[in-house]
Amino acid sequence: MGIRYFLMKIIDVFRLKKKCALVKHCNKTNMENIRLVKIGEEKFCRLDMKNKLEEFSGLYKNRPVKNNTYGMKAPHLFLAWFTMQSLKPEYIIESGVYKGQGTWILQKAVPSARIHSIDIALWKRKYVSDKVTYHNKDFVCIDWSDIVKDKTICFFDDHQNAVERVRFLEKNGFKKFIFEDNYPTGRGDCYSLKQAFDRDGQDANYLKSIIKVYNELPPVFKAEKTYWKDMWNEENYPTPEPLYKNLDKEYLRVFFDQAVHYTWMCYVELK
Ligand SMILES: C[S@@+](CC[C@H](N)C(=O)[O-])C[C@H]1O[C@@H](n2cnc3c(N)ncnc32)[C@H](O)[C@@H]1O
Repeated sequence: MGIRYFLMKIIDVFRLKKKCALVKHCNKTNMENIRLVKIGEEKFCRLDMKNKLEEFSGLYKNRPVKNNTYGMKAPHLFLAWFTMQSLKPEYIIESGVYKGQGTWILQKAVPSARIHSIDIALWKRKYVSDKVTYHNKDFVCIDWSDIVKDKTICFFDDHQNAVERVRFLEKNGFKKFIFEDNYPTGRGDCYSLKQAFDRDGQDANYLKSIIKVYNELPPVFKAEKTYWKDMWNEENYPTPEPLYKNLDKEYLRVFFDQAVHYTWMCYVELK
């Protein structure tokens, strides 16, 4: 006891304070990174999106593939259709065709676009169009020299490493693209841009240095629980504000019923 004990206590208090400050800083940094759902301007007007849902639901009733398990459902087909219709690219490259539902909706969105569709298993197609050029090898193995890159939007639903895809896109002059499966950390079967941003390492730094616009597109509805049956809250799954909270129009039902199939689809533009 005495002066020595008193001094040790003061040192302990300082150590504890320093430790608390460090923990606070780490928590703050993690939360900031985890919350990255947007870089740059918001490209798509939420009101325009809402105004297009009724038209889309009519179109969706006439989809060629009625059972698209493992493929895109109404929430993402809508986002694909809406974004492409707004941007009206001259060329569309779609990677990951599966039964062809996505090909069909891309054609509906921009009938004038020259569409190239890729899948390493083209035999799975149910919808096949004679207006589309099909390829059966990976995106990076195809000669894109005839494509006008700044008039092209690439649409990836092929479950490959998204950061590797971005490196190829940047190197080859592509500027605009969409990743359909932009899975949150710990989920999905491929490395997504969302996961890269969460890790906040070299990949995130690289992406932030070349990206002008990164918009996670809003879900029409959020469900209480995710596809993985845990709580769909902001802490675990930061998500843009959904377009609707209440099911107050009948044409919204399909988006409500399929809400858990949303996978943080993102639109990206490079500098
Ligand atoms: C989830 S499905 C695509 C669903 C489709 N976009 C739709 O409209 O419903 C993924 C597809 O990616 C294909 N795939 C896997 N590896 C690929 C690659 N390297 N390049 C292109 N497609 C690939 C698979 O064969 C599969 O058909």
